Amino acid sequence: MHTFLYRLNAAISFALLALAAICIAASMTDVIHNANPSVDIKVVKFEGLRRTNGGNDEARIALNISADLTSIFSWNTKQLFVFVAAEYATPKNSWNQISLWDSIITSKDDAKFQAVLYNKYGLIDQGNNLRGHDFNLTMYWHVMPKTTMMYTGSKSFTGFNFPDSYF
Ligand SMILES: *[C@@H]1O[C@H](CO)[C@@H](O)[C@H](O)[C@H]1NC(C)=O
Ligand SMILES: *[C@@H]1O[C@H](CO)[C@@H](O)[C@H](O)[C@H]1NC(C)=O
Repeated sequence: MHTFLYRLNAAISFALLALAAICIAASMTDVIHNANPSVDIKVVKFEGLRRTNGGNDEARIALNISADLTSIFSWNTKQLFVFVAAEYATPKNSWNQISLWDSIITSKDDAKFQAVLYNKYGLIDQGNNLRGHDFNLTMYWHVMPKTTMMYTGSKSFTGFNFPDSYF
């Protein structure tokens, strides 16, 4: 009995050690794996800029998003959470970040895409700061690996401006 438990314990310890070794190897090869994603985001047009009933500015925007994130995928990649945000500074908030679109990408085949789309989430300011205001568009990707810690990357595009007046 004693011998059996001892052997069982030794077997479990060995299994855990082997698992730990696999995880360490996974994270090391994943660090060596160097990704080179390409991203482009353009504003196609503004479809409206208005003051909502709540009194805040709301813009409707069409974006042309192209990305090739296939190089991020390694054998250790479970999925990517990708989102595009508008970012701008106002007197009230030194940094406003509004998510406009997001997607979960689960395969390398889906990691290369190009789409013209309207903002999926409301581009609503906390006030009336949008008219003529400059903003950045940033794509973020959160890489969820199978065995190691999540990491993130991003690419920003600057020099966009909201329309000068409501329409
Ligand atoms: C969107 O961007 C792609 C790649 O940059 C380009 O080929 C396409 O013509 C653009 N479409 C629009 C509607 O701007
Ligand atoms: C927009 O991008 C520029 C250049 O990277 C940066 O200096 C600025 O802080 C960004 N603005 C916001 C609000 O993130």
